[in-house]
Amino acid sequence: MADVIPTLEELHALPAAQQPSYADPDAVARVLAELRARPPLVFAGECDELRRKIAAVAAGRSFLLQGGDCAECFDSVTAQDIRGKLRVLLSMAVVLTYAAQVPVVKVGRIAGQYAKPRSSDTETRDGVTLPAYRGDAVNSLDFDPAARAHDPNRLVEVYNRSSATLNLLRAFVKGGFADLRTVHTWNSDFVRNSNVEERYETMAGEIERALAFMVACGVDNDQFRTVDLYSSHEALLLEYEHALTRIDSRTGTPYDVSAHMVWLGERTRQVDGAHVELLRHLRNPVGVKLGPTADPDDVVALLARLDPNQEPGRVTVITRMGADNVREVLPPIIEAVEDTGRKVAWVCDPMHGNTFSSANGYKTRAFSDVVEEVNGFFDVHDELGTWPGGVHVELTGGDVTECVGGVDELAEADLAAHYETACDPRLNRNQSLELAFMIAERLAAGRASHGNAVQAYKPEDF
Ligand code: PEP
Ligand code: CO
Repeated sequence: MADVIPTLEELHALPAAQQPSYADPDAVARVLAELRARPPLVFAGECDELRRKIAAVAAGRSFLLQGGDCAECFDSVTAQDIRGKLRVLLSMAVVLTYAAQVPVVKVGRIAGQYAKPRSSDTETRDGVTLPAYRGDAVNSLDFDPAARAHDPNRLVEVYNRSSATLNLLRAFVKGGFADLRTVHTWNSDFVRNSNVEERYETMAGEIERALAFMVACGVDNDQFRTVDLYSSHEALLLEYEHALTRIDSRTGTPYDVSAHMVWLGERTRQVDGAHVELLRHLRNPVGVKLGPTADPDDVVALLARLDPNQEPGRVTVITRMGADNVREVLPPIIEAVEDTGRKVAWVCDPMHGNTFSSANGYKTRAFSDVVEEVNGFFDVHDELGTWPGGVHVELTGGDVTECVGGVDELAEADLAAHYETACDPRLNRNQSLELAFMIAERLAAGRASHGNAVQAYKPEDF
């Protein structure tokens, strides 16, 4: 087991895509010294716990739900915003757990998701060209030269905002907000008349009766009151992730203590690149995004580099192929990885392969494409006899209008009403819950028809 952390100089000697360019190296050095002195945001033991839970996903005994903003913003670190996202995640998880009867590992794309890879380094508006927005970790969304300059001091703010977010999440999930007996109240302010709302209400009523039954039988478990929620983000900014990587005093091994799980983006997963070099040393569970051009042999080589010992739960492969490609390009990748004997958690990101620009100029996604990619993902795994281990979605707790379609039948003309994302379009609450019901149906149907992969649960999966 690797027990060293490569130096920042060693990382910088390797190819590294999508990095900021800071004008003042002394300011960077000051910021990094400050970050290195700060306490960890997560405890290494929690990362181990998540790795064990993801091992259960890879073994077909559990389902991973990962979701949150495309890009968190400093200004959105409010109780209302955090509560909204948590509520959607918990509601989706309860739909999956209850309707599909499968344990759900809950991971937020939250408390650190502040840096964005971009397809272009610049943005031009009305003949003015400025550096592209790269997330609040790097610069500001405002379109003016000072705001778009890359500022290392923002990294301290990432730490502070992540810390505040995680603090509230921890309080919510352990302090009563996640109590299953309050499942009704999570969505009590639903816009009425939606089909999703009715289904949710019916399910919540059934859960309440089931819980009352168990309490009457003398079973009143702590697991009804609290949940385990983990944090994750894309490990994009080498400086930040490196400054938050520490040797765990218990085990003498390195953990990135900025989040429980970090992932490699589609644009920064080069096998000989700096990002892979950093992540391969970590003991955290790590994710890898794969787009439609991923080559099966490259994927096998990448996984071997990241996880040579094939440690259960260490690698999650997050595929984002697009609704039109998934049935064609996913099978050879799964087959190539399975042929090596490696068991990974296979997770579907049905968002990033399905983005388009609407006629009225919004970056959007169609809910029907999201559903179609998830269906394709399930069909492929059904055919290959592998376990569709989870989903990774961009969502928010508000009733935003960023993706078209879904139960409210949002049209392109509706996008302008509440288009709030700083980066990619997110599912709103109704769309997220609708997706959860759809996935729960697929999971339940898979189990009914093939005894699909869900084997006997083990107590540690919960
Ligand atoms: C993202 O998750 O927001 C993202 C940029 O994804 P990908 O690396 O898959 O393009
Ligand atoms: Co995104």
